[in-house]
Amino acid sequence: MARILLTGGAGFIGSHTAAVLLERGYDVVLLDDFSNAARDVPERLRRVTGVSLPLIEADIRDEAAMAAALAAFPVDAVIHFAAKKAVGESEADPLSYYDSNIVGTVRLLTAMHRAGVDRIVFSSSATVYGEPDVCPITEAAALRVTNVYGRTKLVMEGMITDLVRTGTLKAAAILRYFNPVGAHPSGLIGEDPRGVPANLMPYLCQVAEGRHPHLNVFGDDYPTHDGSGVRDFIHIMDLAEAHEAALRRVLARDGDFTVNLGTGTGYSVLDMVKAFASATGVKVPYEIVPRRPGDVAACYADPTMAANLLGWHATRGIETMCRDAWRWQSKVALTNQAP
Ligand code: UFG
Repeated sequence: MARILLTGGAGFIGSHTAAVLLERGYDVVLLDDFSNAARDVPERLRRVTGVSLPLIEADIRDEAAMAAALAAFPVDAVIHFAAKKAVGESEADPLSYYDSNIVGTVRLLTAMHRAGVDRIVFSSSATVYGEPDVCPITEAAALRVTNVYGRTKLVMEGMITDLVRTGTLKAAAILRYFNPVGAHPSGLIGEDPRGVPANLMPYLCQVAEGRHPHLNVFGDDYPTHDGSGVRDFIHIMDLAEAHEAALRRVLARDGDFTVNLGTGTGYSVLDMVKAFASATGVKVPYEIVPRRPGDVAACYADPTMAANLLGWHATRGIETMCRDAWRWQSKVALTNQAP
């Protein structure tokens, strides 16, 4: 079975993808600098899958460390998750985003090239579409980034497709994620943001836990069915399974492809509050507050391309997303101790 290096493998999407790859028999090597991931993730993955993973603690900008990692663990492909990902922070400190995301990716790609590793799956984001003209969004939609974080994703996408075009890489998958939520059904791994979460689901869970008095709903005057913002929330396990499908294609065929990873269905912020109550029995108090600057009214995917190319589609609905997020949050994140 193929051996795969996961940069950012201890993060939210990386750790769930590791679980799916291990369950499907791949050899997985985790690499993380733990700048935004908990140190006990590898141990939790061992409890979920029964496999002790090789772990490399390194920053992708450290080219010597990347070269040493690839020499110690020859791999068939890399899944590149490691990146900074907060829109607001990227606007406040753009240079650190260029450095971590763009310079880091250049160093990783250089080390891969020198080691003869020429297949990659790359974590991109629906943020590259900016304010869409129409929903659902296809991969052919205009790319117009509206923030520094989005710019770094677009630059990294372009570097990787250039490298395939010039023959430096043999194969690449560019995966544009919509809004990943939920957690592994074991409740042992999940999203564990540092500080006050900016994203809806982790904040909603923290309100349910009693850490905040209420959820702020950013705007109820959007042109959507109930006035609140609409997004394509996708269960993290569906997203992780999509990585395995993309990886299979990248290992089997040369060339590059770009796909949206979403469910194709948009739900509003208020839909999520209702689904959370019905899935968990916990009613989350909320207040309507003004729109958050930079937010779009609606953003959801046309997932047809992923279905056609990968034979993959999301299967888990919003109640499962809420139930699994809450299982993780209430059992583990609250105490930060394994149950
Ligand atoms: N929202 C609230 N209250 C909150 C947090 C969010 O009402 O406390 C609303 C937002 O206004 C938005 C929706 O919930 O309507 C989703 O917001 P998130 O912050 O969870 O997610 P975004 O869609 O803004 O952004 C996410 C990622 C980005 C990524 C983008 C891709 O955070 O990194 O999806 O579409 F680029």
